[in-house]
Amino acid sequence: MSKRRRIYEGKAKILYEGPEPGTLIQFFKDDATAFNAKKHEIIDGKGVLNNRISEHIFTQLNKIGIPTHFIKRLNMREQLIKEVEIIPLEVVVRNVAAGSMSERLGIPEGEVLPRSIIEFYYKKDELNDPIISEEHITAFGWASPHEIDDIMSLAVRINDFLSGLFLGIGIQLIDFKIEFGRLIEGDLMRIVLADEISPDSCRLWDAKTNEKMDKDRFRRDLGGMVEAYREVATRLGIMNENEPQRGKGPVLVKSDKSDK
Ligand code: TMP
Ligand code: ASP
Repeated sequence: MSKRRRIYEGKAKILYEGPEPGTLIQFFKDDATAFNAKKHEIIDGKGVLNNRISEHIFTQLNKIGIPTHFIKRLNMREQLIKEVEIIPLEVVVRNVAAGSMSERLGIPEGEVLPRSIIEFYYKKDELNDPIISEEHITAFGWASPHEIDDIMSLAVRINDFLSGLFLGIGIQLIDFKIEFGRLIEGDLMRIVLADEISPDSCRLWDAKTNEKMDKDRFRRDLGGMVEAYREVATRLGIMNENEPQRGKGPVLVKSDKSDK
């Protein structure tokens, strides 16, 4: 395990070479960062939860015919994925104003947008991932017009699916960020969903109380980040009761005298 080659290390994940050519292992770290890593903390248990939540979502997306890099979850922190060439774009889909859009355009957080809006950011940490237009993407050759069409139609389908999935468990999908890659299959190259979808990359508000159940709990120092992620996992029906609870909250210790 320690011998395998590390291909790439990001802020929240590490990619290792996979068991076969064309595969990689995606490892979910407990690191939480915000504001381009100016803020950084280790949040015990976050990686395990994101691995599970992202596995669940990618599996469902694969089932409805959205191509993704996901093959299978390997263990608590790792998943097997197809190796793709990452397109250097962060694609943000917004249903409700929040975060940088609210700041940039002066739209109050929580205001439902007239329609879903797709934004592109150039994935470049040194530049703080600046917002860009399709013009920049095609002029600089980051993706072709046809690839942008594919990305946008996949983004709309993913948004529709995720909005319904979350609404069904009492959560409003405010916005989310996704990344895409090029997968080479023989002579063909197609665009597939890559990276992860988790409370790190989405804004999720409780549909009744508007309570934040995502990384804004960390960005805005609200506390209770792991508890919120665990609640998302529980509502998605993917928490295994036998798993150790690694959060800071009280732990229920069952005493069963017959064991002794
Ligand atoms: P923003 O409002 O800060 O632009 O964020 C929009 C969405 O994208 C939100 O769900 C959080 C997510 N996001 C990331 O996943 N990674 C990032 O680097 C940023 C800036 C946002
Ligand atoms: N920008 C990411 C976020 O706030 C993380 C980071 O920049 O360190 O979600």
